[in-house]
Amino acid sequence: MSVLVTGGAGFIGSHTCVELLNSGEEIVVLDNFCNSKPEVLDKIRQLTGKDFKFYEVDLLDPDGVEKVFAENDIEIVIHFAGLKAVGESVQKPLKYYHNNITGTLILCEAMKRHNVKKIVFSSSATVYGNPHTVPIKEDFPLSTTNPYGSTKLMLERILTDLNVADPEWNVTLLRYFNPIGAHKSGLIGENPNGIPNNLMPYICQVANGTLPRLNVFGDDYPTPDGTGVRDYIHVVDLAVGHVKAVERARELDGVNIYNLGTGTGYSVLDIVKAFEKANNLKIPYVIAPRRAGDIPACYADPTKAKEVLGWEAQYGIEEMCRDSWNYMLKQKEN
Ligand code: NAD
Ligand code: UD1
Repeated sequence: MSVLVTGGAGFIGSHTCVELLNSGEEIVVLDNFCNSKPEVLDKIRQLTGKDFKFYEVDLLDPDGVEKVFAENDIEIVIHFAGLKAVGESVQKPLKYYHNNITGTLILCEAMKRHNVKKIVFSSSATVYGNPHTVPIKEDFPLSTTNPYGSTKLMLERILTDLNVADPEWNVTLLRYFNPIGAHKSGLIGENPNGIPNNLMPYICQVANGTLPRLNVFGDDYPTPDGTGVRDYIHVVDLAVGHVKAVERARELDGVNIYNLGTGTGYSVLDIVKAFEKANNLKIPYVIAPRRAGDIPACYADPTKAKEVLGWEAQYGIEEMCRDSWNYMLKQKEN
């Protein structure tokens, strides 16, 4: 039996495929490459020395999705495939609702037809909105401020409703905090198109001279140095969290929700300093106005993941900065 990984060519998906294969799981991967490249699949094979079946299929294509289930003995689905750019989701809400929601409905219909009722879903800390306090526990109130976040919250509810209707549905909701870093080989990582929105890809492009300086969005937040605080987590740690979630889903029933974060918050300036130290580089920056929609601080209480999944982040901020930059350097070489 196999683990089906939707969006397995993407940033978190590709790292998770590596960890699944290394832990002895059989996988089948589905992706439409709308935000990834086919070369990633060979990198996964190269890193693990293992092969797997791949389907270039769009989740919005019911026949394509049906074929994946008809041709394979799928036990559980890890569902990464989705669009994730917050700003674009505000400009193009229909595109986001259609891709993320309709795509998941088509996936779940196929799962149901084939009696596959275990799913591990990529949710996000964005479902906590602006938390009233930090660290954030899984039972905190939920709210969203943009269409991307709304798709995550709606999908959490849709998957929960499946379990209410049929308790055989086994649903794991993983709420990721801020994934950064890359595999230490530098072969896979995150390579956004155009000018990055997120902090670490932006810093990397300042470091390599593509962008002149970092704009630090606000230094008057109620945080220790006034800049925004987040829970950055190494993508390899996150990937290992999925392996643990799959293992646990085989034993637990119902709907299980876990924060995947380190539990430590770092400010924007902490990240700049850590990046400079880890890579022996200077990152020029200026203080800019706050970015609309940003919150002061967001970091996890990861106790539940530790207690129930037996999972805890291993990598620190220097390794995250080192591996992000190493991936960038390797990209230049290729
Ligand atoms: P990513 O864009 O690198 O990977 C998503 C993959 O899904 C891509 O390879 C893309 O081509 C594929 N895809 C998208 N729509 C598809 C469709 N309709 N059919 C088939 N394939 C499709 O993103 P990521 O950073 O790896 O994120 C993975 C998941 O985790 C997403 O659902 C995202 O919303 C969620 N998430 C990401 C972050 C983050 O900061 N990266 C944080 C929280 C949650
Ligand atoms: C973003 C998404 C969020 C998603 C999360 C994890 C937005 C508004 N939110 O959150 O939905 O769940 O990523 O991937 O995009 N910063 C700068 N200068 C920059 C870029 C960022 O100062 O050029 C600051 C931000 O103000 C923030 C921190 O760096 O304080 C992190 O920003 P970012 O990497 O974009 O992640 P989030 O805003 O946490």
